[in-house]
Amino acid sequence: MVERLTIDHVGHRGDGVSLATGEAIYVPYALGGETVEVDHVVGHHPDRRKLLAVDVANPERIKPFCPHFGVCGGCAIQHWAAEPYHAWKRGIVVEALAQAGLDCEVAPLVDAHGAGRRRITLHGRFGTHDVLKVGFSATSSHDVIPIHRCPILDPALEGALEAAWALAEQLTSKMAVTKPLDIQVTATANGLDVDVRGSGPLPTPLVTVLSRVAEQHGLARLTRHGELVLQRLPPTLRIGRAEVTLPPGSFLQATVAGEEMLAVLVAERVGKAREVLDLFCGVGPFALRLAEKSRIAAYDSDAGAVAALAKAARTPGLKPIKAEPRDLFRRPLVPQELRDFDAVVFDPPRQGAQAQALKLAESKVPVVVAVSCNVATFARDARLLIDGGYKLETVVPVDQFRHTPHVELVAKFKR
Ligand SMILES: C[S@@+](CC[C@H](N)C(=O)[O-])C[C@H]1O[C@@H](n2cnc3c(N)ncnc32)[C@H](O)[C@@H]1O
Repeated sequence: MVERLTIDHVGHRGDGVSLATGEAIYVPYALGGETVEVDHVVGHHPDRRKLLAVDVANPERIKPFCPHFGVCGGCAIQHWAAEPYHAWKRGIVVEALAQAGLDCEVAPLVDAHGAGRRRITLHGRFGTHDVLKVGFSATSSHDVIPIHRCPILDPALEGALEAAWALAEQLTSKMAVTKPLDIQVTATANGLDVDVRGSGPLPTPLVTVLSRVAEQHGLARLTRHGELVLQRLPPTLRIGRAEVTLPPGSFLQATVAGEEMLAVLVAERVGKAREVLDLFCGVGPFALRLAEKSRIAAYDSDAGAVAALAKAARTPGLKPIKAEPRDLFRRPLVPQELRDFDAVVFDPPRQGAQAQALKLAESKVPVVVAVSCNVATFARDARLLIDGGYKLETVVPVDQFRHTPHVELVAKFKR
């Protein structure tokens, strides 16, 4: 059923929100102030509509630069001018903190898109008539939109899509693998690092074919579920003064600029601390830079990431870094273990770090720096620290996932 709606504002997921009927109706790709024609979408949420036409456009509307925009679920916003887009994104943080009752200043949004995304996960699926599709998930569905070009990628990912298509074609030829595939590609200093998931055990001849594809596409390394298929060159990244060999599948900030910006903001807030604890350290983008001035202890549950950090820690000129695997949800560091640190950095996954925040709240650590990719769980954990006597300083929102509703932030707590 086709309807006409007026749009109030853009919501925190990037959809236009209409309040015309008294309840919120969500219209992806619509902007505040617009009058739009929409249709109900079969099988979707009853409060969502499909945008058919924009009758009265917001003057801030711009032409999206990607031909896949509107069907590919990778980007939610390419149709809005930079300035209002920045204000909207900062507003997501302002609103979530206010809703949680946190009274603090929010700095202007820091752009950290840089050269673009350095890591992508492509999905390989069979569509109708068993036609292979390799690309990103569609907007609001598990359908895959075949992609051969993505303009938001770092040029260092050049060849990633071709390699992913070639691997998926070989894996699915003669229906050897019919399960959905996830192909993660990371740009490294020595070329592309590819990890394929979902294929299950493979016969040896097929593994040989895959390693030939890896050779043909000049991949640095190809792994399946983290198991080595072929390594031409070690997939390394420079982090500060160190060179880190990436373990397959471990976490990495989405853009080089994002990693560098978060590290700068963290270092500014850590200041002259002599003993620093880096919790949820990953492969060490904070630890390896902070170790130029401070002694570091670092923990993460990903044993591969911790081993990579421990190896890179041997870089000459760095102060000692002690890196150990530890599940910080189940075994957070307790006040006695936190006693000797001048500053703690924590950068948890989307779930946040509730158990660790509770223990930090009981500690006497003078400075705690939080990095977060989820403002809701950050607000929850921040409340625990504040209730424990910490004071929250200005929160800095960082935009490394440009064109999406995802936003990172860095915040300092002091006691
Ligand atoms: C957002 S990433 C940050 C990593 C690193 N600070 C960086 O900037 O690359 C979150 C990290 O938390 C780790 N992690 C997830 N669950 C964990 C847990 N229960 N205990 C400890 N670390 C965990 C992940 O392995 C990942 O490295």
